[in-house]
Amino acid sequence: MRVVLAGAPGAGKGTQAKFIAKHYGIPQISTGDIFRANIAAQTELGKEAKRFMDAGDLVPDEVTIGIVRDRLAQDDARAGFLLDGFPRTVHQAVALNKTLSELGTPLDVVLELQIEDDEVVRRLSGRRTCRKCGHVWHVEFDPPAQEGVCDVCGSELFQRDDDLPETIRRRIEVYNEQTAPLVGFYTAAGLLRGITAQGPVDEITERAIETLKTAADD
Ligand code: AP5
Ligand code: MG
Repeated sequence: MRVVLAGAPGAGKGTQAKFIAKHYGIPQISTGDIFRANIAAQTELGKEAKRFMDAGDLVPDEVTIGIVRDRLAQDDARAGFLLDGFPRTVHQAVALNKTLSELGTPLDVVLELQIEDDEVVRRLSGRRTCRKCGHVWHVEFDPPAQEGVCDVCGSELFQRDDDLPETIRRRIEVYNEQTAPLVGFYTAAGLLRGITAQGPVDEITERAIETLKTAADD
C-alpha cells in the first residue's frame, strides 16, 4: 500500500496515520514530524524549518522534496509507505510523481480527511503532545487522566508552538491557498478518495481502511 494522507491542519492525519500504518505494516512518513525532530536536535535543517513553521508558513519546496526523496529510498519504504503532510503544494506532488516513477512504485491512493474550519481550530487549540513519547492528546476530546501529564509514560505534555490562535489561522490560509489545489490534481489523476474526518477516532479509522481497501482493488 502506497498512500498519501491529505487534509487540512488538524484533520487528524497524525492520529489516523498511526492506525493505518500499523494495519498495513508500513512506515508513516510525516514531514512535520521530521522537521520537529530536527528542531529538537538543533540541526541546521531544524533551525531553517523552525522559522517557517513558527510563522505557519510552508518550509520551501527545495528543502522538503529532498528530504522525502531520501526517506522514500530507504529499505523500509520499498514495501509501501504512508505519507502524512506531504505533498503540500502542486510542485511537491509533481516531484513525488517523478521520484516514485524512478523507483517504479507509483501511488495507489490519496486519502483526504475532510473537516470543517471551526473543528480545525477546536482540535489544534486543544492539542497537547508528550515531550517524551510523542503521544498526542486533546484537552477536551481525548484528555489524559491528570491534566498536563501523559498517561502512557508519565511525562510532561506541551503545546506545539504553531498551535497558537494566530498561527492556526495562518496555517488554514496557507492550506487553502497552496495545498487545497492538490484535490483537483489528484482527482484528475483518478487517485483521490475523500472521507469525513469528524466523529469518533475509531469510526474514522474503519472508514479509512475500508476506503483504502476498495481503492486498492480498483
Ligand atoms: P504538520 O506537522 O504536518 O502539521 P499540519 O498539517 O498542520 O497538521 P497537524 O499535525 O497540525 O494535524 P493532524 O492532521 O496531524 O492532526 P492530529 O492527528 O495531530 O506540519 C507542521 C508544519 O511543518 C507546517 O505548517 C509547515 O511549516 C511544515 N511542513 C510540514 N510538511 C511540509 C511540507 N510537505 N511542505 C512544506 N512545509 C511542511 O489531530 C489534531 C488534534 O485533534 C489532536 O489533539 C487529536 O487528539 C485531535 N483529534 C484527532 N482526531 C480527532 C477526532 N476524530 N475527534 C476529536 N479530536 C480529534
Ligand atoms: Mg500531524
